[in-house]
Amino acid sequence: MDEQKIKALAERVLTEVNGALGCLTILVGHRLGLYRNLADEGSATPAELAARTGLAVRYVEEWLLAQVTGGYLDHDSATGEYSISPEHSAVFVDQDNPAYMTPFTQWITTMSAVIPELTEAFRTGGGVPYEAYGQDAIEAIGLGNRSMFVNDYARSWIPALPDVEAKLKNGGKVAEVGCGIGWSSIALAHGFPTVAIDGIDIDEASITQARDLAEEQGVSDRVAFHHTPVEQTELTGPYDLVTAFECLHDMPYPIDTLTKMRELAGPSGVVLIADEAAGDTLEENTNLLGNFFYNASILHCLPQAMVFPDAAGTGTAISPSTVRTYAEQAGFKSVEVVDIENPFFRFYRLAP
Ligand SMILES: C[S@@+](CC[C@H](N)C(=O)[O-])C[C@H]1O[C@@H](n2cnc3c(N)ncnc32)[C@H](O)[C@@H]1O
Repeated sequence: MDEQKIKALAERVLTEVNGALGCLTILVGHRLGLYRNLADEGSATPAELAARTGLAVRYVEEWLLAQVTGGYLDHDSATGEYSISPEHSAVFVDQDNPAYMTPFTQWITTMSAVIPELTEAFRTGGGVPYEAYGQDAIEAIGLGNRSMFVNDYARSWIPALPDVEAKLKNGGKVAEVGCGIGWSSIALAHGFPTVAIDGIDIDEASITQARDLAEEQGVSDRVAFHHTPVEQTELTGPYDLVTAFECLHDMPYPIDTLTKMRELAGPSGVVLIADEAAGDTLEENTNLLGNFFYNASILHCLPQAMVFPDAAGTGTAISPSTVRTYAEQAGFKSVEVVDIENPFFRFYRLAP
Protein backbone atom coordinates (compact mmCIF):
# COMPACT_ATOMS: atom_id res chain seq x y z
CA MET A 1 0.00 0.00 0.00
CA ASP A 2 1.21 3.47 -0.89
CA GLU A 3 0.51 5.43 2.32
CA GLN A 4 1.12 8.73 0.54
CA LYS A 5 -1.53 7.87 -2.02
CA ILE A 6 -4.05 7.08 0.73
CA LYS A 7 -3.25 10.34 2.53
CA ALA A 8 -3.45 12.36 -0.68
CA LEU A 9 -6.92 11.05 -1.53
CA ALA A 10 -8.21 11.47 2.03
CA GLU A 11 -7.02 15.09 2.02
CA ARG A 12 -8.54 15.63 -1.38
CA VAL A 13 -11.93 14.32 -0.25
CA LEU A 14 -11.85 16.67 2.74
CA THR A 15 -10.96 19.56 0.43
CA GLU A 16 -13.83 18.70 -1.89
CA VAL A 17 -16.37 18.27 0.91
CA ASN A 18 -15.23 21.63 2.26
CA GLY A 19 -15.64 23.12 -1.22
CA ALA A 20 -19.23 21.88 -1.35
CA LEU A 21 -19.91 23.35 2.10
CA GLY A 22 -18.32 26.61 0.96
CA CYS A 23 -20.74 26.64 -1.98
CA LEU A 24 -23.65 26.35 0.43
CA THR A 25 -22.36 29.32 2.44
CA ILE A 26 -22.15 31.27 -0.83
CA LEU A 27 -25.78 30.42 -1.51
CA VAL A 28 -26.80 31.53 2.00
CA GLY A 29 -24.92 34.81 1.55
CA HIS A 30 -26.56 35.32 -1.83
CA ARG A 31 -30.10 34.55 -0.63
CA LEU A 32 -29.77 36.86 2.37
CA GLY A 33 -28.22 39.71 0.36
CA LEU A 34 -25.05 39.70 2.46
CA TYR A 35 -22.56 39.95 -0.42
CA ARG A 36 -24.68 42.58 -2.14
CA ASN A 37 -24.91 44.63 1.02
CA LEU A 38 -21.12 44.58 1.51
CA ALA A 39 -20.62 45.45 -2.18
CA ASP A 40 -23.15 48.30 -2.18
CA GLU A 41 -22.73 49.76 1.30
CA GLY A 42 -19.09 48.96 2.04
CA SER A 43 -17.24 47.20 4.82
CA ALA A 44 -18.94 46.46 8.13
CA THR A 45 -18.51 44.87 11.52
CA PRO A 46 -20.77 41.86 12.17
CA ALA A 47 -23.14 44.03 14.19
CA GLU A 48 -23.30 46.68 11.44
CA LEU A 49 -23.90 44.10 8.71
CA ALA A 50 -26.57 42.39 10.83
CA ALA A 51 -28.30 45.74 11.40
CA ARG A 52 -28.07 46.70 7.71
CA THR A 53 -29.58 43.39 6.57
CA GLY A 54 -32.02 42.85 9.45
CA LEU A 55 -30.40 39.53 10.39
CA ALA A 56 -29.34 37.93 13.68
CA VAL A 57 -25.85 39.11 14.59
CA ARG A 58 -24.52 35.77 15.86
CA TYR A 59 -25.36 34.07 12.55
CA VAL A 60 -23.90 36.93 10.52
CA GLU A 61 -20.71 36.83 12.59
CA GLU A 62 -20.23 33.07 12.11
CA TRP A 63 -20.97 33.35 8.38
CA LEU A 64 -18.36 36.12 8.07
CA LEU A 65 -15.78 33.93 9.83
CA ALA A 66 -16.50 31.11 7.36
CA GLN A 67 -16.14 33.58 4.47
CA VAL A 68 -12.79 34.94 5.65
CA THR A 69 -11.30 31.53 6.47
CA GLY A 70 -12.52 30.38 3.05
CA GLY A 71 -10.84 33.30 1.29
CA TYR A 72 -14.10 34.77 -0.03
CA LEU A 73 -14.17 37.96 2.07
CA ASP A 74 -11.49 40.15 3.68
CA HIS A 75 -11.11 41.15 7.32
CA ASP A 76 -9.35 44.20 8.73
CA SER A 77 -8.11 43.25 12.18
CA ALA A 78 -7.44 46.91 13.06
CA THR A 79 -11.07 48.00 12.56
CA GLY A 80 -12.84 44.64 12.96
CA GLU A 81 -14.58 45.26 9.62
CA TYR A 82 -15.31 42.74 6.88
CA SER A 83 -15.36 43.60 3.17
CA ILE A 84 -15.73 42.17 -0.31
CA SER A 85 -13.14 43.00 -2.98
CA PRO A 86 -14.34 44.29 -6.37
CA GLU A 87 -12.98 41.10 -7.96
CA HIS A 88 -14.97 38.81 -5.66
CA SER A 89 -17.99 41.05 -6.09
CA ALA A 90 -17.76 40.33 -9.85
CA VAL A 91 -18.07 36.60 -9.12
CA PHE A 92 -20.67 36.75 -6.31
CA VAL A 93 -22.80 39.86 -6.97
CA ASP A 94 -22.60 41.28 -10.49
CA GLN A 95 -24.97 39.08 -12.49
CA ASP A 96 -23.96 40.73 -15.79
CA ASN A 97 -20.27 39.97 -15.26
CA PRO A 98 -18.99 37.05 -17.39
CA ALA A 99 -17.34 35.72 -14.20
CA TYR A 100 -20.64 35.64 -12.21
CA MET A 101 -20.77 32.16 -10.66
CA THR A 102 -23.26 32.25 -7.78
CA PRO A 103 -26.06 30.29 -9.54
CA PHE A 104 -23.67 27.36 -10.05
CA THR A 105 -23.74 26.78 -6.28
CA GLN A 106 -27.41 25.84 -6.63
CA TRP A 107 -26.28 22.62 -8.31
CA ILE A 108 -25.21 21.41 -4.88
CA THR A 109 -28.66 21.75 -3.32
CA THR A 110 -30.63 20.45 -6.27
CA MET A 111 -28.41 17.43 -6.89
CA SER A 112 -28.23 16.50 -3.20
CA ALA A 113 -32.01 16.53 -2.99
CA VAL A 114 -32.51 13.81 -5.63
CA ILE A 115 -29.96 11.24 -4.38
CA PRO A 116 -32.71 8.79 -3.23
CA GLU A 117 -34.41 8.89 -6.66
CA LEU A 118 -31.04 8.69 -8.43
CA THR A 119 -29.83 5.61 -6.57
CA GLU A 120 -33.18 3.98 -7.31
CA ALA A 121 -32.76 4.86 -11.00
CA PHE A 122 -29.40 3.05 -11.02
CA ARG A 123 -31.28 -0.08 -9.89
CA THR A 124 -34.22 0.18 -12.29
CA GLY A 125 -32.60 1.82 -15.33
CA GLY A 126 -35.27 4.54 -15.11
CA GLY A 127 -34.74 8.24 -14.60
CA VAL A 128 -35.28 11.25 -12.34
CA PRO A 129 -37.82 13.72 -13.76
CA TYR A 130 -36.52 17.21 -14.62
CA GLU A 131 -39.20 18.68 -12.32
CA ALA A 132 -37.82 16.70 -9.36
CA TYR A 133 -34.73 18.95 -9.40
CA GLY A 134 -36.92 21.99 -8.73
CA GLN A 135 -36.28 25.71 -8.90
CA ASP A 136 -32.61 25.50 -7.90
CA ALA A 137 -31.81 23.54 -11.08
CA ILE A 138 -33.83 25.93 -13.25
CA GLU A 139 -31.84 28.85 -11.81
CA ALA A 140 -28.48 27.05 -11.85
CA ILE A 141 -28.94 26.61 -15.60
CA GLY A 142 -30.86 29.74 -16.61
CA LEU A 143 -29.06 32.26 -14.41
CA GLY A 144 -25.74 30.42 -14.72
CA ASN A 145 -25.84 30.88 -18.52
CA ARG A 146 -27.46 34.33 -18.44
CA SER A 147 -24.30 36.47 -18.48
CA MET A 148 -22.99 34.59 -21.53
CA PHE A 149 -26.20 35.29 -23.44
CA VAL A 150 -26.40 38.91 -22.31
CA ASN A 151 -22.75 39.66 -23.15
CA ASP A 152 -21.98 37.47 -26.13
CA TYR A 153 -25.00 36.18 -28.04
CA ALA A 154 -25.95 39.26 -30.08
CA ARG A 155 -22.50 40.84 -29.91
CA SER A 156 -20.21 37.99 -30.94
CA TRP A 157 -22.04 34.71 -31.61
CA ILE A 158 -24.41 36.08 -34.27
CA PRO A 159 -21.65 38.08 -36.04
CA ALA A 160 -19.84 34.72 -36.46
CA LEU A 161 -22.76 33.84 -38.79
CA PRO A 162 -22.68 36.86 -41.15
CA ASP A 163 -25.56 35.65 -43.35
CA VAL A 164 -27.79 35.24 -40.28
CA GLU A 165 -26.70 38.60 -38.88
CA ALA A 166 -27.71 40.31 -42.12
CA LYS A 167 -31.21 38.80 -41.91
CA LEU A 168 -31.68 39.60 -38.21
CA LYS A 169 -30.73 43.24 -38.79
CA ASN A 170 -33.80 43.51 -41.02
CA GLY A 171 -36.29 41.62 -38.88
CA GLY A 172 -36.08 37.88 -39.25
CA LYS A 173 -37.49 34.96 -37.28
CA VAL A 174 -35.69 32.79 -34.76
CA ALA A 175 -36.76 29.61 -32.94
CA GLU A 176 -34.96 28.59 -29.75
CA VAL A 177 -35.27 24.96 -28.74
CA GLY A 178 -34.88 24.02 -25.04
CA CYS A 179 -34.97 27.72 -24.18
CA GLY A 180 -35.31 27.23 -20.39
CA ILE A 181 -36.18 30.50 -18.65
CA GLY A 182 -35.53 32.35 -21.88
CA TRP A 183 -32.47 34.55 -21.34
CA SER A 184 -30.99 33.70 -24.75
CA SER A 185 -34.20 34.80 -26.50
CA ILE A 186 -34.45 37.96 -24.42
CA ALA A 187 -30.79 38.86 -25.02
CA LEU A 188 -31.20 38.32 -28.77
CA ALA A 189 -34.35 40.47 -28.81
CA HIS A 190 -32.47 43.28 -27.07
CA GLY A 191 -29.58 43.00 -29.55
CA PHE A 192 -31.79 42.90 -32.66
CA PRO A 193 -34.77 45.19 -32.07
CA THR A 194 -36.96 43.92 -34.92
CA VAL A 195 -36.40 40.16 -34.70
CA ALA A 196 -39.30 37.87 -33.68
CA ILE A 197 -38.47 34.86 -31.52
CA ASP A 198 -40.27 31.67 -30.51
CA GLY A 199 -38.80 29.86 -27.50
CA ILE A 200 -39.83 26.23 -26.98
CA ASP A 201 -39.35 24.11 -23.86
CA ILE A 202 -40.84 20.95 -22.39
CA ASP A 203 -40.63 22.28 -18.80
CA GLU A 204 -43.73 24.21 -17.75
CA ALA A 205 -42.12 26.03 -14.80
CA SER A 206 -39.30 27.29 -17.06
CA ILE A 207 -41.76 28.55 -19.68
CA THR A 208 -43.87 30.36 -17.06
CA GLN A 209 -40.74 32.14 -15.80
CA ALA A 210 -39.59 32.90 -19.36
CA ARG A 211 -42.93 34.58 -20.11
CA ASP A 212 -42.68 36.69 -16.95
CA LEU A 213 -39.10 37.69 -17.81
CA ALA A 214 -40.09 38.67 -21.37
CA GLU A 215 -42.79 40.96 -19.90
CA GLU A 216 -40.38 42.42 -17.35
CA GLN A 217 -37.74 43.00 -20.05
CA GLY A 218 -40.24 44.69 -22.39
CA VAL A 219 -39.88 42.21 -25.27
CA SER A 220 -43.06 40.14 -24.93
CA ASP A 221 -44.48 41.69 -28.12
CA ARG A 222 -41.72 39.95 -30.13
CA VAL A 223 -40.72 37.00 -27.96
CA ALA A 224 -43.23 34.17 -27.37
CA PHE A 225 -42.60 31.10 -25.24
CA HIS A 226 -44.26 27.77 -25.96
CA HIS A 227 -44.66 24.88 -23.56
CA THR A 228 -44.26 21.66 -25.55
CA PRO A 229 -41.70 18.99 -26.39
CA VAL A 230 -40.06 20.50 -29.46
CA GLU A 231 -40.63 17.32 -31.46
CA GLN A 232 -44.39 17.95 -31.09
CA THR A 233 -44.48 21.70 -31.70
CA GLU A 234 -47.14 22.99 -34.06
CA LEU A 235 -44.92 25.92 -35.04
CA THR A 236 -43.93 25.62 -38.67
CA GLY A 237 -41.46 28.35 -39.53
CA PRO A 238 -39.57 28.71 -41.73
CA TYR A 239 -37.12 30.41 -39.37
CA ASP A 240 -33.92 32.22 -40.34
CA LEU A 241 -32.19 30.71 -37.33
CA VAL A 242 -33.04 27.71 -35.14
CA THR A 243 -30.89 27.31 -32.02
CA ALA A 244 -30.38 24.76 -29.28
CA PHE A 245 -28.19 26.07 -26.45
CA GLU A 246 -26.73 23.53 -24.05
CA CYS A 247 -29.63 21.16 -24.48
CA LEU A 248 -29.04 18.71 -27.34
CA HIS A 249 -27.31 16.43 -24.83
CA ASP A 250 -30.43 16.62 -22.60
CA MET A 251 -32.86 15.58 -25.30
CA PRO A 252 -34.21 12.05 -24.89
CA TYR A 253 -34.59 11.72 -28.66
CA PRO A 254 -31.87 13.97 -30.12
CA ILE A 255 -32.26 12.75 -33.71
CA ASP A 256 -35.98 13.59 -33.62
CA THR A 257 -35.09 16.97 -32.10
CA LEU A 258 -32.59 17.73 -34.87
CA THR A 259 -35.00 16.51 -37.54
CA LYS A 260 -37.62 18.95 -36.23
CA MET A 261 -35.02 21.74 -36.11
CA ARG A 262 -34.10 21.03 -39.75
CA GLU A 263 -37.78 21.27 -40.71
CA LEU A 264 -38.24 24.52 -38.75
CA ALA A 265 -35.23 26.08 -40.51
CA GLY A 266 -36.48 25.07 -43.96
CA PRO A 267 -34.13 25.07 -46.96
CA SER A 268 -32.52 28.45 -46.27
CA GLY A 269 -32.49 28.77 -42.46
CA VAL A 270 -29.48 28.02 -40.27
CA VAL A 271 -29.39 25.56 -37.38
CA LEU A 272 -26.96 26.51 -34.59
CA ILE A 273 -26.14 24.08 -31.79
CA ALA A 274 -24.06 25.16 -28.80
CA ASP A 275 -23.21 22.30 -26.51
CA GLU A 276 -20.47 21.25 -24.14
CA ALA A 277 -16.89 21.62 -25.38
CA ALA A 278 -16.13 18.01 -24.52
CA GLY A 279 -13.61 15.90 -26.41
CA ASP A 280 -14.13 12.62 -28.23
CA THR A 281 -11.99 10.51 -25.89
CA LEU A 282 -11.75 9.88 -22.16
CA GLU A 283 -8.17 11.19 -22.26
CA GLU A 284 -9.34 14.49 -23.76
CA ASN A 285 -11.97 14.78 -21.01
CA THR A 286 -9.71 13.96 -18.08
CA ASN A 287 -9.45 17.52 -16.82
CA LEU A 288 -11.52 19.91 -14.67
CA LEU A 289 -14.08 20.71 -17.36
CA GLY A 290 -14.45 17.10 -18.49
CA ASN A 291 -14.90 15.93 -14.90
CA PHE A 292 -17.47 18.69 -14.32
CA PHE A 293 -19.39 17.51 -17.39
CA TYR A 294 -19.43 13.89 -16.19
CA ASN A 295 -20.38 14.88 -12.63
CA ALA A 296 -23.24 17.02 -13.95
CA SER A 297 -24.19 14.19 -16.27
CA ILE A 298 -24.54 11.42 -13.71
CA LEU A 299 -26.29 13.70 -11.20
CA HIS A 300 -28.66 15.54 -13.59
CA CYS A 301 -28.49 15.44 -17.39
CA LEU A 302 -28.48 11.68 -17.89
CA PRO A 303 -31.18 10.78 -15.31
CA GLN A 304 -33.57 13.54 -16.46
CA ALA A 305 -33.44 12.10 -20.00
CA MET A 306 -33.67 8.45 -18.90
CA VAL A 307 -37.23 9.09 -17.69
CA PHE A 308 -38.34 8.67 -21.31
CA PRO A 309 -38.71 5.17 -22.82
CA ASP A 310 -35.76 4.13 -25.02
CA ALA A 311 -34.05 7.49 -24.44
CA ALA A 312 -30.74 8.01 -26.25
CA GLY A 313 -29.05 8.68 -22.88
CA THR A 314 -26.42 10.95 -24.41
CA GLY A 315 -25.04 12.50 -21.21
CA THR A 316 -23.56 15.95 -20.70
CA ALA A 317 -20.15 15.36 -22.32
CA ILE A 318 -21.54 15.23 -25.85
CA SER A 319 -18.61 14.80 -28.23
CA PRO A 320 -18.12 16.33 -31.67
CA SER A 321 -18.42 12.90 -33.27
CA THR A 322 -21.75 12.27 -31.50
CA VAL A 323 -23.10 15.61 -32.74
CA ARG A 324 -22.01 14.71 -36.28
CA THR A 325 -23.61 11.26 -36.09
CA TYR A 326 -26.91 12.65 -34.76
CA ALA A 327 -26.90 15.42 -37.40
CA GLU A 328 -26.31 12.99 -40.26
CA GLN A 329 -29.11 10.73 -39.01
CA ALA A 330 -31.39 13.78 -38.84
CA GLY A 331 -30.75 14.52 -42.51
CA PHE A 332 -28.13 17.27 -42.31
CA LYS A 333 -25.47 17.18 -45.02
CA SER A 334 -22.92 19.40 -43.32
CA VAL A 335 -21.74 20.07 -39.77
CA GLU A 336 -19.30 22.92 -39.37
CA VAL A 337 -17.66 23.95 -36.07
CA VAL A 338 -18.05 27.72 -35.84
CA ASP A 339 -15.07 29.80 -34.70
CA ILE A 340 -16.53 31.25 -31.48
CA GLU A 341 -14.43 31.49 -28.31
CA ASN A 342 -16.23 30.12 -25.26
CA PRO A 343 -14.97 28.35 -22.14
CA PHE A 344 -17.86 25.87 -21.96
CA PHE A 345 -19.45 25.53 -25.39
CA ARG A 346 -18.53 24.37 -28.87
CA PHE A 347 -20.74 25.78 -31.64
CA TYR A 348 -21.96 23.71 -34.60
CA ARG A 349 -23.59 25.13 -37.71
CA LEU A 350 -25.74 22.49 -39.42
CA ALA A 351 -26.92 22.71 -43.02
CA PRO A 352 -29.44 20.46 -44.83
C1 LIG B 1 -29.63 22.58 -19.74
S1 LIG B 1 -31.18 23.30 -20.07
C2 LIG B 1 -30.73 24.66 -21.14
C3 LIG B 1 -31.70 25.79 -21.07
C4 LIG B 1 -31.32 27.03 -21.87
N1 LIG B 1 -31.08 26.74 -23.26
C5 LIG B 1 -30.12 27.71 -21.25
O1 LIG B 1 -29.02 27.58 -21.78
O2 LIG B 1 -30.28 28.37 -20.22
C6 LIG B 1 -31.97 22.15 -21.17
C7 LIG B 1 -33.40 22.52 -21.49
O3 LIG B 1 -33.90 21.61 -22.47
C8 LIG B 1 -35.27 21.40 -22.18
N2 LIG B 1 -35.73 20.18 -22.89
C9 LIG B 1 -35.37 18.90 -22.67
N3 LIG B 1 -36.02 18.09 -23.52
C10 LIG B 1 -36.79 18.87 -24.31
C11 LIG B 1 -37.68 18.62 -25.40
N4 LIG B 1 -37.90 17.40 -25.85
N5 LIG B 1 -38.29 19.68 -25.97
C12 LIG B 1 -38.08 20.94 -25.54
N6 LIG B 1 -37.25 21.23 -24.51
C13 LIG B 1 -36.61 20.21 -23.91
C14 LIG B 1 -35.30 21.31 -20.66
O4 LIG B 1 -36.59 21.48 -20.14
C15 LIG B 1 -34.33 22.44 -20.29
O5 LIG B 1 -34.99 23.66 -20.10
